[in-house]
Amino acid sequence: MENGQKVKMTIHRREFLKAVAGVALGACLPAGLFSKALAGTDKPVREFHFSASPAKVSLGSGPEFMAWTYNGQVPGPEIRVKAGEIVRVVLRNYLPEGTTIHWHGIPLQNAMDGVPGITQPPVMPGESFVYEFETEIPGSFLYHSHARYQLDQGLYGPLIVEPARPEESYDREYTLVLEDWVMKDGGGRARTERRPPMGMMNGMMGRGRSSGPDQGPLWEPVYDGYAVNGRIYPATESLTVTKGERVKLRLINASSATIYHLRLAGHTLRITHADGNPIRPIETDVLRIGMGERYDVLFEANNPGHWLLAAADTGFREDRLRVPVVYKGVNSNATEPPRFHQGLRLASYSDFAARDAGGENSGGDPDRAYNQVLGGGMHSAFWTINGRVYPDAETLSVDNGERVRLAYGNHSMMPHPMHLHGHFFRVVNRLLPREQWVLKDTIIVDPMQRIEVEFTADNPGSWFHHCHNLYHMEAGMANVVAYRGSSRSEKF
Ligand code: C2O
Ligand code: CU
Repeated sequence: MENGQKVKMTIHRREFLKAVAGVALGACLPAGLFSKALAGTDKPVREFHFSASPAKVSLGSGPEFMAWTYNGQVPGPEIRVKAGEIVRVVLRNYLPEGTTIHWHGIPLQNAMDGVPGITQPPVMPGESFVYEFETEIPGSFLYHSHARYQLDQGLYGPLIVEPARPEESYDREYTLVLEDWVMKDGGGRARTERRPPMGMMNGMMGRGRSSGPDQGPLWEPVYDGYAVNGRIYPATESLTVTKGERVKLRLINASSATIYHLRLAGHTLRITHADGNPIRPIETDVLRIGMGERYDVLFEANNPGHWLLAAADTGFREDRLRVPVVYKGVNSNATEPPRFHQGLRLASYSDFAARDAGGENSGGDPDRAYNQVLGGGMHSAFWTINGRVYPDAETLSVDNGERVRLAYGNHSMMPHPMHLHGHFFRVVNRLLPREQWVLKDTIIVDPMQRIEVEFTADNPGSWFHHCHNLYHMEAGMANVVAYRGSSRSEKF
């Protein structure tokens, strides 16, 4: 059977209502004009103003340098709203090149998705754009530029949607944005040491695009700083806790090319949410978090002391990512780092089960299936899906209402955190009934691994689907899920 061919015909009688009609305005218009878009809704609108501009930043340790920022800060300002509210962000572009903002993980209207060339033209220098969308689903999300290498230059920030009514109990909460940095002017775009894809021998890059002067930037930089909320240890802001408290951490990996293995010394972590979606809580010693992934975890503050939440060194000195967890009233000069050794529990996707089993679409085969072979990196600087380099890629066509299976097989030597815009997918787990398959929007596919996910095509448009390693994405590991008959395909 041909890839993506319809598996069977099903008629879905569902209505796809999106409460908010998006507005996309290319120029600054008086605010009064926007309220039209909200006719018929009386939901509260939360308005934010973001100026994308170069700015000198300091991460507390290391040199000052020029990054690209929202409102002069890295990460960008935290957006925190309640489910059901409408977020409106007025973006002004003071950068020397076009930009957009993508609202990673939010299943919003296609026109608001912020992918240049797919959902909108880039917002050019000196221009403005108004993003507006409803936040129906609570959880931890992030936003980031989707233009060129801007994510690795500093253009990202946290987006927290609180539940309309509290649904879990904890005493204290922290949001931790994890970042990999090149602390030089230009950040990830700086002239700095870069590493060729694993397995690619030196001297093999004599062909085609891979020999051009553009080649260097396609390679991942060698990062010289790992920051939490824009601060590098020991300048990282401590998390203060009181004995007896239950503490929630929202971990958001906004890094361009770094997967972390995190551990909190002296404590176990209980994972409660994966990519914003509630899971049946599971305990773990080590939490692995890929680019674009988010995990909410709880820990019981039952072991007074000064501890570090830190990453393991897997060869890139990520152990420099560190945050002190400090109990009030405990004096100590030393913070205890976590130890990584054999026998620690490391939660994996197959341990996850959805907490609120969704009733829809249980049972039966998917309507359509696509194989997605992830490749590249061996003898070329390109990263591919089914051997194709984006934009010369296969389009994954779907029909509204279908249940679509994506079957990833990683034939390369690096892990790829695959991300689908505009939808949550369920992670196929043959040991569980379908309604308990966990919902996510980003999933790490390890070398030689096969993972399947399934999503319901209920949000028409053209949606980017790609590896969330920025350098793999830019080197071709991407394609587009396009709804047939949707008016928004490849317009820009
Ligand atoms: Cu954070 Cu195209 O994604
Ligand atoms: Cu990748």
